Amino acid sequence: MQLSDKKATLSLSDGSASVEFPVYQGTIGPDVIDIRKLYGQTGMFTYDPGFLATASCESSITYIDGDKGQLLYRGYPIDQLAQNCDFMDVSYLILNGELPNAEQKREFDSLVTNHTMVHEQMQMFLRGFRRDAHPMAVLTGLVGAMSAFYHDSTDITNARHREISAIRLIAKLPTLVAMAYKYSMGQPYIYPQNDLSYTGNFLRMMFATPCEEYKVNDVVERALDRIFILHADHEQNASTSTVRLCGSSGTNPFAAIAAGVACLWGPAHGGANEACLQMLEELQANGGVAKVGEFMEKVKDKNSGVRLMGFGHRVYKNYDPRAKLMQETCKEVLGALGLENDPLFKLAMELERIALEDPYFVDRKLYPNVDFYSGIVQRAIGIPTSMFTAIFALARTVGWIAQWNEMLSDPDYKIGRPRQLYTGHAPRDIAK
Ligand code: ACO
Repeated sequence: MQLSDKKATLSLSDGSASVEFPVYQGTIGPDVIDIRKLYGQTGMFTYDPGFLATASCESSITYIDGDKGQLLYRGYPIDQLAQNCDFMDVSYLILNGELPNAEQKREFDSLVTNHTMVHEQMQMFLRGFRRDAHPMAVLTGLVGAMSAFYHDSTDITNARHREISAIRLIAKLPTLVAMAYKYSMGQPYIYPQNDLSYTGNFLRMMFATPCEEYKVNDVVERALDRIFILHADHEQNASTSTVRLCGSSGTNPFAAIAAGVACLWGPAHGGANEACLQMLEELQANGGVAKVGEFMEKVKDKNSGVRLMGFGHRVYKNYDPRAKLMQETCKEVLGALGLENDPLFKLAMELERIALEDPYFVDRKLYPNVDFYSGIVQRAIGIPTSMFTAIFALARTVGWIAQWNEMLSDPDYKIGRPRQLYTGHAPRDIAK
């Protein structure tokens, strides 16, 4: 963080003396005004409920330029990473700041692979859930329970503990997600197999049965690996901020990541991919492409409560770069699986075409986000809609853990404690 030559001056209309605040510059992106002394100097707080203009931390992991539609992990553009790297390279990059060389990659792969198995007792824990529970409800429980199963790595002041818990989370999430799926299906769990890639292993744990070996399809493996890369981190979004806030109390990483999983579940965040596919399926059942115009009128009518899911983003006011890559992957997967004429894909393309020309969307700068096409890809692979957000959580775990680690090593780190504008009763007495 570098101090800028600029200073911000706040003057109030009540005649009190104006107050100066330092301004800091990042590498790229907007400068920030340091208002930490505002309350001490003026007795006032700032008011920014949705964090529309508030930087909650300093970070060097991910950068988004929403107007340009640019996403960088540690400085590398997302399209270059998606085209040249696999999810393990990207995880290493997000955690350590640099892409691995061949030796580092081998070591990291082997470290993660050797932690993929989960404590056998976790099966008993899973059995306590109803089989029809939502996978995100189960996953929130399973990740939270990791602090009970792996309490030998929960001392956050110990660097070795932090390292082990990071690897445990990244390695075991695919196993837990697949176990949650198998449990919901009433099928036996499939143990990880160490000679497969991270993504290949996950596919096998999801789709193999003891009666039949599962052959990992290269196109499907690449597509899912890309989904993982595109979802790996996204700076200070709601779930990441939740992990940071939860972790700021000094709680253990498993508890903090469980909070992130819970936040991600919401339909305005990670739950949007599930909601988007449900929207496409409903629209298809009610007339498909022929009814798109009618549906779009409903979306634009504020009283209808209907939104075009997979569209719009708090930060991107341009095409989400991940959506472009996802659309590419969608075509590749549908082609490879002989589903080129998939009606939901056609419907999505038509919705996108109309939205990109409609003044309602153009004026509000609403573009497809990553979730618009990822559901179609996952459905083609055979992943049920209810599992989409759990897969997002699996991929985002690396971002969450890197952001949590970064927070703990920040010398300015303090427990997160927002203030409020109180508008309730003034002090009053109970009537006797
Ligand atoms: N469909 C229709 N109108 C929309 C949509 C949409 N998907 N998104 C925003 N708008 C409209 C709003 O009604 C509002 O219009 P107004 O100015 O006339 O009142 C305007 O665009 C701005 O919308 P806000 O809700 O204020 O924008 P905000 O930044 O708070 O919300 C959000 C962003 C939550 C992503 C929103 O665009 C949305 O609900 N999208 C659909 C859900 C979705 O796809 N979420 C995934 C996000 S990406 C991710 O988490 C991986």
